[in-house]
Amino acid sequence: MIPKRLLLPLLFVALCSCQNHKYIQARGVIKDSAMVVSARIEASTIGAEILKKGGNVFDAMIGTELALAVCYPYAGNIGGGGFMVYRLADGSTGSLDYRERAPAAAHKDLYLDSSGHYQQDLSKIGGLAVGVPGTIAGLFEVHEKFGSLPIEMLIQPAIDLANNGFVVTEQQAQRINKYGSIIEATSGGSSLYTRPYKTGDTIKNPALAKTFTTIAQKGVDGFYRGPIAQHISSFLQEHRGIIDTTDLANYRAQWRTPITTTFQDLTIISMGPPSSGGICLSQLLGMLEDHDLSTMAHHSSDYIQIIVEAERRAFADRSHYLGDPDFVTVPSAQLLDRDYLQQRMSDFTSEKATPSSEIGYGTLPTYESDETTHYSIVDPKGNAIAVTTTINGGYGAKLFDDDLGFFYNNEMDDFSAKPGTPNMFGLVGGQANAIEPGKRMLSSMTPTIVERDGAFWMSLGTPGGSTIITSVLQVILNTQLFDMPLQQAINEPRFHHQWLPDMVRFEPQRFDSLVLKSLENKGYVIHQKESTIIGKVDAVMRTADGRLEGGADPRGDDAAIGF
Ligand code: DON
Repeated sequence: MIPKRLLLPLLFVALCSCQNHKYIQARGVIKDSAMVVSARIEASTIGAEILKKGGNVFDAMIGTELALAVCYPYAGNIGGGGFMVYRLADGSTGSLDYRERAPAAAHKDLYLDSSGHYQQDLSKIGGLAVGVPGTIAGLFEVHEKFGSLPIEMLIQPAIDLANNGFVVTEQQAQRINKYGSIIEATSGGSSLYTRPYKTGDTIKNPALAKTFTTIAQKGVDGFYRGPIAQHISSFLQEHRGIIDTTDLANYRAQWRTPITTTFQDLTIISMGPPSSGGICLSQLLGMLEDHDLSTMAHHSSDYIQIIVEAERRAFADRSHYLGDPDFVTVPSAQLLDRDYLQQRMSDFTSEKATPSSEIGYGTLPTYESDETTHYSIVDPKGNAIAVTTTINGGYGAKLFDDDLGFFYNNEMDDFSAKPGTPNMFGLVGGQANAIEPGKRMLSSMTPTIVERDGAFWMSLGTPGGSTIITSVLQVILNTQLFDMPLQQAINEPRFHHQWLPDMVRFEPQRFDSLVLKSLENKGYVIHQKESTIIGKVDAVMRTADGRLEGGADPRGDDAAIGF
């Protein structure tokens, strides 16, 4: 007979050693009817309060997004843009593109000097890095189509938050203090975010409250026309920018058809171009479905290898074919064709790594020639959204507008500034993502909704640049193939490959050293120092008993609030 004191450890070993093991399961916030999960508790609370007052998921989006612009200035914004994917309770789906656009004066060689050298900093820091912001246009577009409560009522909580202030978390204090001097140098003087802060301090932003008040009173034109637009244009031009009032007046958000694919009994609905997220995620799932991943142990060398090889191929296609569909023909159907995806994996061997130098973009049969934050919301009626919004790098272009109270994006760096030259995420691109006036830069943002057997199952997404796509993939695989509860699936360590540079990034010290050794022996270059964290996934899942689980990523200060 086994002594009692050994029962628990033995059970643990048995659970962990079986192939498709059930985990010691972390659970998120479980509630009956509604859930908001975002990067900050204040934003999730504001979204949930709007739902409690009878607002729908789109009303909650407006409150949550503006609250993030106040209390999560690292990525929450009105100076940037984003994407929203929705699935209504009746099963209809759609998506909104409120991505930034290149100003009219932008051109292919905007960041090259007279000798053709790429001037790295100009696409990342200061006014020239800024794309025409889309967030306010996006929110008003959402409200016009789907909003149920008056817009002033949805903006007011963010005005109050900006006036009353929010409490600085430890992570936030570290970040603000780290970036303060560069914000000061770029913005040309001291401002709200150049002061030193410590955990527990309160930050009030009355300038942003005033900007919101003008927008609440004057509507979308309060931002894109008139005094605010004039201020934005002259402020940016004083900081080497080229955005003018016509660029702002011409900005429009676009409704787009999402990318939909299937994986086993799941239907995945995600963002299409100008995001690469939906296409790459669908390619990955398509390449992986033929290989029986569920027979492999989670995070075993075989499991990691096959995912890495699929990622290598999807990112090679991304770099060649994907760009703004209003400017280039994106061969979405061919890229998602199952025969094509099968053929892409035909040279895969489990014996060794396929070097990226041997993997180009795929040949399509009839191709004509190309710091971010995520939140997920489900309302009591069962409508769901997944929204990823960004100013690109942490604090965007590091350009803080003290008069209007917000940071500007550095989204222009997401263009391919010079073919073959990597951007800040190490991504390389070509002609399809070259800079053109009015064009949207290619994104990796992957706000995604998953149906199981035709019903809503999950809404998810994450920041993380190129790692967004692979983080979303891994959470879907963790839940679908390994039956993990949502929170556990989010907590699990993550890895990433993006074709170039040819290396696999792993969250440090979280993977079995023998597994890493075995991958190294097959020729994979392993990096554990590149990223301390990979992704920061926020998600909502319908549980087997019909309730909602809110999964907030412990890698950040993220919070799920439901009722
Ligand atoms: O659109 C994109 O793909 C990037 N601008 C996203 C940036 C991002 O996720 C930064 N966060 N870590």
